[in-house]
Amino acid sequence: MVSSASVATWEEARVLRDELDQTGKRLVFTNGCFDVLHVGHVRYLNEARSLGDALCVALNADASVRSLKGPHRPINPVEHRAEVLLGLSAVDAVVVFSEARATNAIRAIQPHVYAKGGDYTPESLNLEEREALDDVGAQIEILDLVAGQSTTETLARLGRPEEAKPRALRLGVLGSGRGSTLEGLLAAIDDGRLSQTEVVLVVSDVEDAFILEIARKRGIEAVHVDPGPYKTRLGEPAQKEIRDRFRSAAVDLVILAGFMRRLKTPVLQAFPNRILNVHPSLLPKYPGRAAWAQALAAGESQAGTSIHLVDEGIDSGRLLGQEPVPILPGDTEESLQQRIQSAERELYPRVISEYARLLASPPSCE
Ligand code: GAR
Repeated sequence: MVSSASVATWEEARVLRDELDQTGKRLVFTNGCFDVLHVGHVRYLNEARSLGDALCVALNADASVRSLKGPHRPINPVEHRAEVLLGLSAVDAVVVFSEARATNAIRAIQPHVYAKGGDYTPESLNLEEREALDDVGAQIEILDLVAGQSTTETLARLGRPEEAKPRALRLGVLGSGRGSTLEGLLAAIDDGRLSQTEVVLVVSDVEDAFILEIARKRGIEAVHVDPGPYKTRLGEPAQKEIRDRFRSAAVDLVILAGFMRRLKTPVLQAFPNRILNVHPSLLPKYPGRAAWAQALAAGESQAGTSIHLVDEGIDSGRLLGQEPVPILPGDTEESLQQRIQSAERELYPRVISEYARLLASPPSCE
């Protein structure tokens, strides 16, 4: 038996889009793994199709499903998943993409409407996909999922919990000091606040930093990267080595934990929107070193801590979360720093967990 229809190239899907466009019609686009089709998928795809005049489904290739869902997925290979989808009356075209995200397919096909399922708002869509959709001017439509109908629940019902378990997000940690931040993260992983992540590699620019010791005791790979001949800068070879180390450890997110040097293009470019830092002040106030001491010396009534995305500047990327910490009468630098660090042990895991959820937002229909 041969399949009745075939997968389209991105170019063919773009031609379909342009043809529709010429007659004032609209191409709807959605993406997902569609691994074990269930009634929730069918209703979702019918609803997506009704938003325009043709529906193109971008299907994650097998390696892409594996990277999102873990080593036991997909259950069905991409040719079979595509053939099943093409058998549905709602689906006009199926394309395949091999990256974790549909970003490049969105840019190439330029759909008029983008449909996404689930409890997402346009703000909580995957950041890269969101950027691509804004660039091509696609209208974003969030569709309700059918309660109790998901691939995960289907697999659980079939008694296949291994396949149903989502893959943990892989964290790479970069620190220069005694590792209290890393300890806080590991405690949060252990007690379930950060259960959807694992620390796979710890890198330090300081050879005898205690953070490396903490990692090794826990059985986590820990490496020292020589920062080069500078006191505060991080040399180009070191930037490249850090990038390569995190890349070969297949790190999803880079977590700065008491890291005291600035990252530059090699690392920043390799992990766009994927590097987080904790800084002990209410940014934009008091960037740089010993921020708590700066707040105390300035006679502030409160200090605090901030979690932010990392860019080229000093403690200057987009803020993801903040927690004020009052300055009490009689506070010393030490007592204030300690209270800030207690706040950080709560705030950092919470923000990482929220951000991990944002990045891992599953393809539209799970
Ligand atoms: C934390 O308080 C963190 O806010 C600060 O270092 C401390 C953790 O060090 N980071 C910065 O000042 C970055 N600009 P540790 O984890 O090595 O104990």
